[in-house]
Amino acid sequence: MKKITTFYFIFYVIFLSLYLNIPSTLGADTLSANQSLSGNQTLVSKDGNFELGFFSPGNSSKNYYIGVWYSYNKVSLQTVVWVANRETPISDRYASELKLVDGNLVLLNESQAQIWYASTNSTTSNSVVAILRDDGNLVLTHGSNGSDSVDPIWQSFDYPTHTWLPGSKIAYNKRSGTSQLLTSWKNLEDPAAGLFSLELRPNSEYIIRWNRSREYWTSGTWNGQIFSLVPEMSLNYIYNFSYINNANESYFTYSLYNPSIISRFVMDVSGQIKQLTWLESSSQWNLFWSQPREQCEVYAYCGAFGACYPNSLPSCICLTGFEPKSGHDWNLSDYSSGCVRKNHLQCESNSTANGEKDKFLINPDMGFNDSQSVAVGSAAECESNCLNNCSCTAYAYDSGCSIWNEALVNLQQHADGSGKPIYIRLSSLDVPSGKNNKGIVIGAVGGSVAVVLVLLGLIFVAIRRQQRRSVGTKAVEGSLVAFGYKDLQIATKSFSEKLGGGGFGSVFKGTLPDSSVIAVKKLESISQGEKQFRTEVSTIGAIQHVNLVRLRGFCSEGDKKLLVYDYMQNGSLESHLLHQIDSKFLDWKTRYQIALGTARGLAYLHEKCRDCIIHCDIKPENILLDAEFCPKVADFGLAKLVGREFSRVLTTMRGTRGYLAPEWLSGIPITAKADVYSYGMMLFEFISGRRNSEQSEDGKVKFFPHWAASVMVEGGDVLRILDPRLERIAEAEEVTRICRIACWCIQDDENQRPSMGQIVQILEGVLEVNLPPVPRSLHVFVDNQEHIVFFTESSSSQSSRASHPSGATSQSKGTVSTESSKA
Ligand SMILES: *[C@@H]1O[C@H](CO)[C@@H](O)[C@H](O)[C@H]1NC(C)=O
Ligand SMILES: *[C@@H]1O[C@H](CO)[C@@H](O)[C@H](O)[C@H]1NC(C)=O
Ligand SMILES: *[C@@H]1O[C@H](CO)[C@@H](O)[C@H](O)[C@H]1NC(C)=O
Ligand SMILES: *[C@@H]1O[C@H](CO)[C@@H](O)[C@H](O)[C@H]1NC(C)=O
Ligand SMILES: *[C@@H]1O[C@H](CO)[C@@H](O)[C@H](O)[C@H]1NC(C)=O
Ligand SMILES: *[C@@H]1O[C@H](CO)[C@@H](O)[C@H](O)[C@H]1NC(C)=O
Ligand SMILES: *[C@@H]1O[C@H](CO)[C@@H](O)[C@H](O)[C@H]1NC(C)=O
Ligand SMILES: *[C@@H]1O[C@H](CO)[C@@H](O)[C@H](O)[C@H]1NC(C)=O
Ligand SMILES: *[C@@H]1O[C@H](CO)[C@@H](O)[C@H](O)[C@H]1NC(C)=O
Ligand SMILES: *[C@@H]1O[C@H](CO)[C@@H](O)[C@H](O)[C@H]1NC(C)=O
Ligand SMILES: *[C@@H]1O[C@H](CO)[C@@H](O)[C@H](O)[C@H]1NC(C)=O
Ligand SMILES: *[C@@H]1O[C@H](CO)[C@@H](O)[C@H](O)[C@H]1NC(C)=O
Repeated sequence: MKKITTFYFIFYVIFLSLYLNIPSTLGADTLSANQSLSGNQTLVSKDGNFELGFFSPGNSSKNYYIGVWYSYNKVSLQTVVWVANRETPISDRYASELKLVDGNLVLLNESQAQIWYASTNSTTSNSVVAILRDDGNLVLTHGSNGSDSVDPIWQSFDYPTHTWLPGSKIAYNKRSGTSQLLTSWKNLEDPAAGLFSLELRPNSEYIIRWNRSREYWTSGTWNGQIFSLVPEMSLNYIYNFSYINNANESYFTYSLYNPSIISRFVMDVSGQIKQLTWLESSSQWNLFWSQPREQCEVYAYCGAFGACYPNSLPSCICLTGFEPKSGHDWNLSDYSSGCVRKNHLQCESNSTANGEKDKFLINPDMGFNDSQSVAVGSAAECESNCLNNCSCTAYAYDSGCSIWNEALVNLQQHADGSGKPIYIRLSSLDVPSGKNNKGIVIGAVGGSVAVVLVLLGLIFVAIRRQQRRSVGTKAVEGSLVAFGYKDLQIATKSFSEKLGGGGFGSVFKGTLPDSSVIAVKKLESISQGEKQFRTEVSTIGAIQHVNLVRLRGFCSEGDKKLLVYDYMQNGSLESHLLHQIDSKFLDWKTRYQIALGTARGLAYLHEKCRDCIIHCDIKPENILLDAEFCPKVADFGLAKLVGREFSRVLTTMRGTRGYLAPEWLSGIPITAKADVYSYGMMLFEFISGRRNSEQSEDGKVKFFPHWAASVMVEGGDVLRILDPRLERIAEAEEVTRICRIACWCIQDDENQRPSMGQIVQILEGVLEVNLPPVPRSLHVFVDNQEHIVFFTESSSSQSSRASHPSGATSQSKGTVSTESSKA
């Protein structure tokens, strides 16, 4: 049986506290032969990092477990990292005790029955002691020698629960042929083994399984430097990862280059693995990396007859006609029990539905699988085939007939139009607005329908009035137009032409009645009230510069918050620089002008507007190009609109890690220098024409910024680092200049970075720049060529987990990579 660890994190924002009663301590890190631990007593590790004792998870104080958590002085939100008796709670912690009996560590419940133990088989049992070490490892050793160098006879690191701490490992044991599992909690209040587990396969790939069987995520195999399907590892300078492979076992372990950063890796109740970092400034765990990227990619996450909605919170919704099997579990973020029918099917019970036959309800735009196909020729035959078989629960017809003969799992909503309709079998009682219900039912339904209609009518009139008011009022907010939602819906043909999915929501193309073309951004996760929203929007609207995308107007109707921008004919820099297969090729002169224009736009934001605006999300996707390839910075000011959730948006959803300055992690306040860092990372991409984080074709990881910096240091031919597609057609002096600026921008210490104003001057040739020192983060990268790895968001694609960088950039890979990586 594996033991446990803890941690709570609800997918989007909410970090739950464990509400432990902070117990009094034994004041020591050691439990020796004649001592016991009970009630609110705890062990505290030597430097006070971790604490061990009884705790009760979540808000229920009914069940107690022995666990290890970060001591309150280090992490103010109680966070359990290991649980001893994860399957067998006790209810009275004062009557229970943890003690050493004959050299074994045992947990006795209220009736003195042994419910958990750690065995040492020691012959000199009296000398065995239990010590809580500063890395969170509970060890049993001989003698009172707490020294970390003493090999333990037993250690909790060998029995991880759901947390993988720095210094511990998740191993594959070659002698026994078994894998250690990192297993999620059952739910937020129950540390018992849940459905999701991470393990290492003999072939050196980590996988996540559902219910110890179905595999739904893999890291890809270890290629000596990274896991093949986690290319973002190549960018790491925060975690020092090593892969160990010897005759007895293989495993992966990690530490932090900066030991003062508190970080942990968990197999979360969401079915995702997550790396989290403690941010003292906001007293929160900050999500650094997670996989699978999308909640809905977790196998059977919503259980039977539950559907996963990517943009909803919680993600799981029961299909119409179904309700959660356990409301309690759903409240604790455990959806695995799924949904049950509100009414039995007629085919399986004679008493319901007045004998009326079962019906099918269409659920449009769904993704599904695991069906059986039936050879019939039409949708009607498909339906009757399903209806005639009582175990058939659903069918879909799309040039072929698919039916499901059991509980339906893995339904997923596809809002982007790639979904297909699926027909779910329901009791006729559960099919909404059934016309054939009789008598009293009709009366009741008819009555309420009338009331609802009247209400809807009133609401509609009210809304129309409001809309008319807002549509009519042009120029209410400075020079901005307040649009009605309806008008934007018409302008964008019901949001049919998607231009992209920026950091804060999707962008659609539209045409106004005056035939001017617009880009409409539908904002997601706006936490602000109406008034604040309008204030922020008018601030953004007041900012105008030739290198900033102009905001023309907005729409704010309840939840619906949209921004209307000028449309940029040439799309984003990303498509031209990094995926230029179908688009126009950017020569060096154009790249240089784009770098300069972007710097001017940012300098204006940072230094010239009334309030300094930090963009916070500089990357090629956010640099738009007009018909003349003049760059315009997009999405500025949105960081403030999204507010507190912003860093989550950045780190969890959008895959822009590769551009994020180190201070985002350390928790110190963000200044304009964070934009300078991102700009610098982007400059390297101007030179190379590919993502910094990209993996080369031969599988060897080369980090372009490092290579470029080392070529600069050596001197010599700078043009060899250039994007090969440019065929060396560029001014060597300009390349050198850009490379030096880039290197200056990505200094670890923000005070060492230039301002955007200085960058503009250098690019204009007004100011000279010497070669800045190569940043530490690049050194770290180089010093650890053998062990590099990294868990961050992929910066190569926001679409998925970026298994392989798109083919668009492949031309450049070979050349760039052959020369790099020396150290
Ligand atoms: C610990 O428990 C004792 C009783 O066993 C109680 O007197 C004391 O107040 C408790 N301490 C805390 C911090 O709860
Ligand atoms: C534990 O108690 C037993 C008997 O009470 C005694 O003989 C032994 O020395 C004690 N061990 C320690 C480590 O104090
Ligand atoms: C515990 O209670 C707090 C406050 O009442 C609530 O916000 C939180 O969601 C609860 N946690 C769980 C796991 O139910
Ligand atoms: C203690 O554990 C034993 C064995 O598991 C069990 O039979 C007993 O009911 C438990 N006592 C209490 C008070 O829960
Ligand atoms: C203790 O002995 C048992 C049975 O002999 C064995 O399975 C177990 O692995 C041993 N434990 C340790 C820590 O050596
Ligand atoms: C205690 O540690 C010292 C060195 O720190 C070592 O020489 C000694 O053997 C250790 N004692 C035991 C019982 O492990
Ligand atoms: C998990 O698998 C076991 C058999 O290994 C099965 O009995 C159980 O029902 C499965 N759990 C779920 C939720 O399907
Ligand atoms: C990284 O980890 C390896 C092995 O765990 C260790 O030898 C090395 O010193 C670490 N590097 C740094 C910079 O901490
Ligand atoms: C493998 O295990 C054997 C027996 O436990 C041990 O003697 C040997 O040192 C181990 N090898 C490595 C590389 O850890
Ligand atoms: C089935 O759907 C799930 C979630 O939608 C997905 O993760 C899985 O890859 C799909 N399986 C197949 C065989 O397509
Ligand atoms: C689930 O939570 C909702 C809202 O907090 C509450 O009304 C409901 O009673 C809860 N259900 C159960 C079964 O705990
Ligand atoms: C439905 O009726 C049939 C025959 O009248 C009977 O055999 C069957 O047991 C009934 N089913 C239920 C669920 O009542």
